[in-house]
Amino acid sequence: MSISEQLAALEKEFNNCTACPFRKDCIAPVGWYGNPESPIVFVGEGPGQVEDEYGCPLIGPSGQLLDKALWAAKMTRDRVMTTNVIKCRPKGNRTPDIAEAEECAKRWLLKELEIMQPKVIVALGGVALHYLGSPDMRITRDRGQWFRTEQGFDCIATYHPAYLLRQYGKQLVAAKWDVFHDLVAARERAEQLCPGYNFMSEEPTKLFKLFPKRPNI
Ligand code: URA
Repeated sequence: MSISEQLAALEKEFNNCTACPFRKDCIAPVGWYGNPESPIVFVGEGPGQVEDEYGCPLIGPSGQLLDKALWAAKMTRDRVMTTNVIKCRPKGNRTPDIAEAEECAKRWLLKELEIMQPKVIVALGGVALHYLGSPDMRITRDRGQWFRTEQGFDCIATYHPAYLLRQYGKQLVAAKWDVFHDLVAARERAEQLCPGYNFMSEEPTKLFKLFPKRPNI
Protein backbone atom coordinates (compact mmCIF):
# COMPACT_ATOMS: atom_id res chain seq x y z
CA MET A 1 0.00 0.00 0.00
CA SER A 2 1.23 3.54 -0.75
CA ILE A 3 1.72 6.07 2.07
CA SER A 4 -1.50 7.84 1.04
CA GLU A 5 -3.44 4.57 1.09
CA GLN A 6 -2.07 3.65 4.51
CA LEU A 7 -2.98 7.11 5.85
CA ALA A 8 -6.46 6.87 4.37
CA ALA A 9 -6.97 3.52 6.14
CA LEU A 10 -5.77 5.04 9.42
CA GLU A 11 -8.07 8.03 8.95
CA LYS A 12 -11.07 5.72 8.56
CA GLU A 13 -10.14 4.10 11.87
CA PHE A 14 -9.63 7.28 13.84
CA ASN A 15 -12.83 8.83 12.54
CA ASN A 16 -14.58 6.10 14.56
CA CYS A 17 -12.45 6.57 17.68
CA THR A 18 -14.41 6.98 20.92
CA ALA A 19 -11.54 6.03 23.23
CA CYS A 20 -11.53 9.21 25.33
CA PRO A 21 -14.06 11.81 26.52
CA PHE A 22 -12.80 14.51 24.11
CA ARG A 23 -14.71 12.92 21.24
CA LYS A 24 -18.14 13.64 22.62
CA ASP A 25 -17.47 17.37 22.95
CA CYS A 26 -16.16 17.99 19.42
CA ILE A 27 -17.63 17.83 15.92
CA ALA A 28 -15.22 15.10 14.80
CA PRO A 29 -11.53 14.17 14.96
CA VAL A 30 -9.11 16.29 12.91
CA GLY A 31 -6.33 14.47 11.09
CA TRP A 32 -3.44 15.76 9.02
CA TYR A 33 -3.01 17.91 5.96
CA GLY A 34 -0.18 18.09 3.47
CA ASN A 35 2.03 16.00 1.25
CA PRO A 36 2.30 12.44 2.64
CA GLU A 37 5.77 12.16 1.05
CA SER A 38 7.04 15.32 2.77
CA PRO A 39 10.33 14.91 4.60
CA ILE A 40 9.09 17.43 7.21
CA VAL A 41 6.15 16.92 9.55
CA PHE A 42 4.94 19.75 11.80
CA VAL A 43 3.24 18.54 14.96
CA GLY A 44 0.94 20.96 16.79
CA GLU A 45 -1.00 20.49 19.98
CA GLY A 46 -4.56 19.70 18.98
CA PRO A 47 -7.48 21.17 17.07
CA GLY A 48 -9.07 24.42 18.21
CA GLN A 49 -12.55 25.60 17.31
CA VAL A 50 -11.83 26.56 13.69
CA GLU A 51 -9.94 23.30 13.08
CA ASP A 52 -12.90 21.37 14.52
CA GLU A 53 -15.29 23.24 12.23
CA TYR A 54 -13.25 22.73 9.06
CA GLY A 55 -11.58 19.37 9.72
CA CYS A 56 -8.10 20.65 8.92
CA PRO A 57 -5.20 21.00 11.37
CA LEU A 58 -3.79 24.50 11.89
CA ILE A 59 -6.28 26.35 9.71
CA GLY A 60 -7.42 28.92 12.31
CA PRO A 61 -5.50 31.98 13.58
CA SER A 62 -2.47 29.92 14.66
CA GLY A 63 -2.40 28.11 11.35
CA GLN A 64 -2.58 31.34 9.38
CA LEU A 65 0.41 32.68 11.26
CA LEU A 66 2.22 29.37 10.76
CA ASP A 67 1.59 29.64 7.02
CA LYS A 68 3.15 33.11 6.94
CA ALA A 69 6.18 31.87 8.86
CA LEU A 70 6.49 28.88 6.52
CA TRP A 71 6.34 31.18 3.50
CA ALA A 72 9.17 33.29 4.97
CA ALA A 73 11.18 30.09 5.49
CA LYS A 74 10.42 28.98 1.89
CA MET A 75 7.79 26.33 2.52
CA THR A 76 4.08 26.03 1.74
CA ARG A 77 1.48 23.95 3.51
CA ASP A 78 0.72 21.76 0.49
CA ARG A 79 4.38 20.69 0.28
CA VAL A 80 4.90 19.84 3.95
CA MET A 81 2.80 17.79 6.37
CA THR A 82 0.95 19.16 9.40
CA THR A 83 -0.73 17.21 12.17
CA ASN A 84 -1.38 17.33 15.92
CA VAL A 85 -0.61 15.37 19.07
CA ILE A 86 -4.31 15.00 19.85
CA LYS A 87 -7.08 14.59 17.32
CA CYS A 88 -10.21 15.88 19.07
CA ARG A 89 -10.77 19.41 20.35
CA PRO A 90 -10.83 19.42 24.16
CA LYS A 91 -13.92 21.10 25.62
CA GLY A 92 -13.28 24.84 26.09
CA ASN A 93 -10.01 24.54 24.11
CA ARG A 94 -8.12 23.58 27.24
CA THR A 95 -4.56 22.30 26.95
CA PRO A 96 -4.41 18.50 27.18
CA ASP A 97 -2.25 17.14 29.99
CA ILE A 98 0.60 14.75 29.24
CA ALA A 99 -1.47 11.63 30.06
CA GLU A 100 -4.23 12.75 27.68
CA ALA A 101 -1.69 13.59 25.00
CA GLU A 102 -0.04 10.16 25.38
CA GLU A 103 -3.34 8.33 25.31
CA CYS A 104 -4.31 9.88 21.96
CA ALA A 105 -0.87 9.97 20.38
CA LYS A 106 -0.10 6.31 21.02
CA ARG A 107 -3.28 5.42 19.10
CA TRP A 108 -2.88 7.83 16.17
CA LEU A 109 0.10 10.19 15.93
CA LEU A 110 2.68 7.44 16.43
CA LYS A 111 1.03 5.38 13.70
CA GLU A 112 0.93 8.38 11.34
CA LEU A 113 4.64 9.02 11.87
CA GLU A 114 5.41 5.33 11.43
CA ILE A 115 3.70 5.46 8.04
CA MET A 116 5.13 8.84 6.93
CA GLN A 117 8.72 8.19 8.09
CA PRO A 118 9.64 11.91 8.09
CA LYS A 119 13.28 12.94 7.95
CA VAL A 120 12.55 15.84 10.30
CA ILE A 121 9.80 16.65 12.78
CA VAL A 122 9.07 20.17 14.03
CA ALA A 123 7.33 20.20 17.40
CA LEU A 124 5.15 23.30 17.65
CA GLY A 125 4.98 24.37 21.28
CA GLY A 126 5.18 22.75 24.69
CA VAL A 127 2.62 19.95 24.33
CA ALA A 128 4.31 18.55 21.22
CA LEU A 129 7.76 19.01 22.78
CA HIS A 130 6.74 17.25 26.00
CA TYR A 131 5.26 14.37 24.07
CA LEU A 132 7.93 13.98 21.35
CA GLY A 133 10.85 14.84 23.64
CA SER A 134 10.18 14.55 27.33
CA PRO A 135 7.98 16.24 29.93
CA ASP A 136 10.97 17.91 31.58
CA MET A 137 11.92 19.78 28.38
CA ARG A 138 11.02 23.48 28.24
CA ILE A 139 10.10 25.28 25.05
CA THR A 140 11.81 28.53 26.09
CA ARG A 141 15.05 26.69 26.91
CA ASP A 142 15.07 23.79 24.46
CA ARG A 143 13.60 25.22 21.25
CA GLY A 144 16.04 25.26 18.37
CA GLN A 145 17.95 22.19 19.68
CA TRP A 146 17.87 18.91 17.81
CA PHE A 147 16.87 15.76 19.67
CA ARG A 148 15.75 12.29 18.72
CA THR A 149 12.23 11.04 19.40
CA GLU A 150 11.64 7.61 20.93
CA GLN A 151 10.65 6.41 17.44
CA GLY A 152 14.06 7.56 16.18
CA PHE A 153 13.06 10.71 14.27
CA ASP A 154 15.14 13.90 14.29
CA CYS A 155 13.09 16.62 15.94
CA ILE A 156 13.44 20.34 16.61
CA ALA A 157 10.96 22.38 18.64
CA THR A 158 9.87 25.93 18.10
CA TYR A 159 7.31 28.26 19.65
CA HIS A 160 3.68 27.49 18.93
CA PRO A 161 2.13 30.19 16.72
CA ALA A 162 -0.51 30.77 19.44
CA TYR A 163 2.35 31.86 21.70
CA LEU A 164 3.47 34.41 19.09
CA LEU A 165 -0.09 35.72 18.90
CA ARG A 166 0.08 36.52 22.61
CA GLN A 167 3.40 38.45 22.43
CA TYR A 168 3.97 42.17 21.86
CA GLY A 169 6.82 44.56 21.18
CA LYS A 170 10.41 43.40 21.48
CA GLN A 171 9.42 39.96 22.77
CA LEU A 172 7.29 39.37 19.70
CA VAL A 173 10.09 40.42 17.35
CA ALA A 174 12.60 38.16 19.13
CA ALA A 175 10.22 35.18 19.18
CA LYS A 176 9.39 35.61 15.48
CA TRP A 177 13.09 35.55 14.59
CA ASP A 178 13.57 32.44 16.73
CA VAL A 179 10.76 30.70 14.88
CA PHE A 180 12.15 31.80 11.52
CA HIS A 181 15.60 30.40 12.34
CA ASP A 182 14.11 27.12 13.66
CA LEU A 183 12.02 26.66 10.52
CA VAL A 184 14.96 27.38 8.23
CA ALA A 185 17.12 24.92 10.22
CA ALA A 186 14.42 22.26 9.86
CA ARG A 187 14.02 22.86 6.12
CA GLU A 188 17.77 22.83 5.54
CA ARG A 189 18.19 19.53 7.39
CA ALA A 190 15.28 17.99 5.49
CA GLU A 191 16.78 19.25 2.21
CA GLN A 192 20.10 17.64 3.05
CA LEU A 193 18.39 14.34 3.80
CA CYS A 194 16.00 14.51 0.88
CA PRO A 195 17.82 16.39 -1.90
CA GLY A 196 15.65 17.70 -4.71
CA TYR A 197 12.40 17.77 -2.72
CA ASN A 198 10.37 20.90 -3.48
CA PHE A 199 9.22 22.52 -0.22
CA MET A 200 7.45 25.49 -1.75
CA SER A 201 4.69 25.99 -4.28
CA GLU A 202 4.38 29.23 -6.21
CA GLU A 203 1.47 30.43 -4.07
CA PRO A 204 0.50 29.99 -0.44
CA THR A 205 -2.01 27.16 0.03
CA LYS A 206 -5.62 28.34 0.28
CA LEU A 207 -6.82 26.01 3.02
CA PHE A 208 -10.33 27.47 3.26
CA LYS A 209 -10.83 26.65 -0.45
CA LEU A 210 -9.79 23.07 0.17
CA PHE A 211 -11.75 22.51 3.38
CA PRO A 212 -15.42 23.49 3.43
CA LYS A 213 -17.08 23.76 6.82
CA ARG A 214 -18.12 20.29 7.87
CA PRO A 215 -21.43 19.13 9.26
CA ASN A 216 -21.70 17.91 12.84
CA ILE A 217 -20.94 14.18 12.52
N1 URA B 1 -3.27 24.64 17.50
C1 URA B 1 -2.67 23.46 17.24
O1 URA B 1 -1.70 23.11 17.87
N2 URA B 1 -3.15 22.71 16.28
C2 URA B 1 -4.19 23.07 15.56
O2 URA B 1 -4.57 22.31 14.69
C3 URA B 1 -4.79 24.31 15.85
C4 URA B 1 -4.32 25.09 16.82
